[in-house]
Amino acid sequence: MKIAPSILDADFGKLQSELNSIETSDRIHLDIMDGHYVPNLSFGLPVLKGLNYPIATEAHLMVNNPENFIDMFAQIGCGIITFHIENTGRAKALELMKSIKSQGIKPGICVDGYTDVAFLDDAILAQAEQICLMSVKAGFGGQSFMPEVLDKIKNLRARGYQNEIEVDGGVTLDNVASLKDAGADIVVVGSFLMNQDYDGRGKTIEAFQGV
Ligand code: DX5
Ligand code: ZN
Repeated sequence: MKIAPSILDADFGKLQSELNSIETSDRIHLDIMDGHYVPNLSFGLPVLKGLNYPIATEAHLMVNNPENFIDMFAQIGCGIITFHIENTGRAKALELMKSIKSQGIKPGICVDGYTDVAFLDDAILAQAEQICLMSVKAGFGGQSFMPEVLDKIKNLRARGYQNEIEVDGGVTLDNVASLKDAGADIVVVGSFLMNQDYDGRGKTIEAFQGV
């Protein structure tokens, strides 16, 4: 299984060495929160621009008006941008995916833990290069995994969705095999990984990749 560590639970006093400690993972997951769409704040461009990324990054936008944040991630060389369809609605989601693609970035749609995947119609699935299924309610790290996500993954695969499916929230080495069996490609791992020391992180990343 591929792993994209979330740096939400990193030590923000030494972010560069925190990033270096996860360089054997597959991608770095940047959780962007504005205190409006979700009741929490994370970090923005001034922080992100000051860092060197040892591997590719993806941005998970939990913000109102996500269209205002695309240039910011183009500036730091982000490879994938996902935003919440509950926030934009369907028409704006299609438009925004087109505009992200035009900047050479892969567009993805994120679905919150309590949203039904029936919300994703065929036109959305046809354009989304990643579907990020949350297995918690968006806004905070360290929540418990919602097993309902397993049926959502299976549902998307049964409908023929072949691009990347990512699962975000509450993922540990105890539930990653079930996610793989259901058809997920990559998992976001925050607290389970970032609460460990650097040596432990390296071993844990390897353990995820071995599943
Ligand atoms: C929650 C974020 C997640 C989260 C992952 O809103 O999108 O990326 O921080 O952290 P854990 O693995 O602790 O749930
Ligand atoms: Zn996330």
